[in-house]
Amino acid sequence: MTELVPVPQDLAARAHVDLPTYRRRYAASLRAPDDFWAAEAASLDWIRPFREVSDTNFDPADLRIRWFADGTLNASVNCIDRHLPAKADQPALLWEGDRPGESRTVTWAELADQVNRLANVLRGLGVAKGDVVTIYMPVLPEAIVAMMACVRIGAVHSVVFSGFSAEALADRIRDAGARVVITADEGLRGGRVVPLKRNADRAAAAAGGVAHLIVAARTGAAVPMTPGRDIRWGPALTAADPWCPPVEVGAEDPLFVLYTSGPTGRPKGLVHTTGGYLVQVGTSWRTIFDWHEGNVFWSTADIGWVTAHSYKIYGPLLNGATSVLFEGVPTFPDSSRWWSIIEKHRVAIFYTAPTAIRSLMREGEAPVRRHDLSSLRVLGSVGEPINPDAWHWLHRIVGGGRCPIVDTYWQTETGSVLLVPIPGAVANKPGAAGKPYFGVRPVVMDPAGRPVAGAGRGSLCFAGSWPAQARTILHDHDRFLRTYFSPFPGHFFTGDGVERDGLGYYRITGRIDDVLNVSGHRLDTVELESAIASHPAVAEAAVVGIPHPVKGQAIFAFVTLKADQPETEALKAAIVALVRERIGPIATPEALLWAPALPKNRAGKILRRVLARIAAGDYHDLGDTTTLADPEAVDEIIRRHRASQ
Ligand code: WTA
Repeated sequence: MTELVPVPQDLAARAHVDLPTYRRRYAASLRAPDDFWAAEAASLDWIRPFREVSDTNFDPADLRIRWFADGTLNASVNCIDRHLPAKADQPALLWEGDRPGESRTVTWAELADQVNRLANVLRGLGVAKGDVVTIYMPVLPEAIVAMMACVRIGAVHSVVFSGFSAEALADRIRDAGARVVITADEGLRGGRVVPLKRNADRAAAAAGGVAHLIVAARTGAAVPMTPGRDIRWGPALTAADPWCPPVEVGAEDPLFVLYTSGPTGRPKGLVHTTGGYLVQVGTSWRTIFDWHEGNVFWSTADIGWVTAHSYKIYGPLLNGATSVLFEGVPTFPDSSRWWSIIEKHRVAIFYTAPTAIRSLMREGEAPVRRHDLSSLRVLGSVGEPINPDAWHWLHRIVGGGRCPIVDTYWQTETGSVLLVPIPGAVANKPGAAGKPYFGVRPVVMDPAGRPVAGAGRGSLCFAGSWPAQARTILHDHDRFLRTYFSPFPGHFFTGDGVERDGLGYYRITGRIDDVLNVSGHRLDTVELESAIASHPAVAEAAVVGIPHPVKGQAIFAFVTLKADQPETEALKAAIVALVRERIGPIATPEALLWAPALPKNRAGKILRRVLARIAAGDYHDLGDTTTLADPEAVDEIIRRHRASQ
């Protein structure tokens, strides 16, 4: 068994939650969930207080997820206005640009001013409560202003990762029915220019229905503006009124939509609502990072992911915390960039992802040692299991052996962290995502749908609702029911495999559906396969994940060409380029192998499991192949794979 790394005593002594508190509050949260969450809800300013705490049922025939439903509030007031009396002139955001030396500080008063003005601009464009606004921006203060401006008027933000292609953006604009898109002229990442306005123009043309594009100036490049449709951020905000009355919204009104990959093709827009999300995200952020007044927080996540929504934006804002925003990448201009930012801003809490740690480990210790990281108190990890090597490097080299690592397990769907070693309470077990958060009841299911008692392995499910969970998939409630609530009735199913040890620690063993996790990004095999198959020379494709030392998993594609199509390197390159264009650079296949035919069972289903073994070079351990319709196809693929190694 891996050794436990104990809770540092000095940290436990000051922590919001120590071990006795964790035990007591966890037990209480399960015994009387409504009392527990009602008390947590006192952390928000409500316009009309709620009377009913929860109305929930996980039976797929009668699914109900409602929290604080008769309460009303406004998210931007909770994130900004209420901090103004004490903190108007203090920094809310410390922004660092792609290039060192380019930085900005945004105070709470400045943030409020920008949000109010942009909210008025949106109102002027006819955006009303419940309308979806798509945000396609780099990590800039303006992106946060845009999100907050939406929620000030009760509009729903849909942030799309700025690394996604025009086509992926168009799909998401169309699905959400957004009339207004907020973007920037260009983005900068690692010294490279990202043509955001150009992508947004193409996406708007492809999606249809976009009445206005609001364009913030990042690089100041001369981008073409369509008269009557496109609006420049700067002049529009200057002309706008600096006060916009906050709109009262119901706790169960939507706060945002966020698209993620699911196990069946089309990206799905998870819908999060206002009251429950804000209650749980605000309180859990403070608890799991053990934030204290004055601690500078930094999450390296891009704003396009749920990690940033919950724990880079809403969590810190709800608590009036100062946080760092960094536009660039950890290796530009050199691999000490992150460490120099931690030193510069005296960052106390640093939340990052295993894939980045693994890539920085390769650069050795010297870039870290050049900087004073003594301000760090707590480190966090998210997105995939952190392998013990990376864990120990982060702990020893970055954290100087004194900072606990909160390995936070959660999902776009869950909205907030569900498994975590709360830093002042639960000893770390490297590689395991810790123990349940308050109010959370993990269940390990065996394949027959029976809960496993004690230590064991199975499918990770949760019994009973928690306030921050997603309520539905936009326009597709059936898919929501099918994906999460039907596999194990009465439970929420995560799609992850898990192992629980004798001490009650949970270790995630990876996705058990057709979702890949590449550098912490979720990618759906079906979506990747349809992008490949959209090439006119391709008959069909199958995509699997292969272990990768930095990315965790990399994409391996098996491609069958149409008859008479020559198997050339140029065609491979064209297919890879097509995937990048259809989805984005994060979806770039690591390798592509021509397969004369794909292994299928007699029902015609592609056996990705067999392909995954072949891609990993495990030719002798293909598992059960008795259902194969055409065993020769497998022999041929093995022959070719071996030849390609
Ligand atoms: C994986 C990111 C192990 C998991 C917050 C999950 C993790 C998916 C961890 C969700 C972790 C996330 N340990 N695996 N600490 N955190 N995952 O929606 O497979 O982008 O289902 O949310 O990432 O990815 P998503």
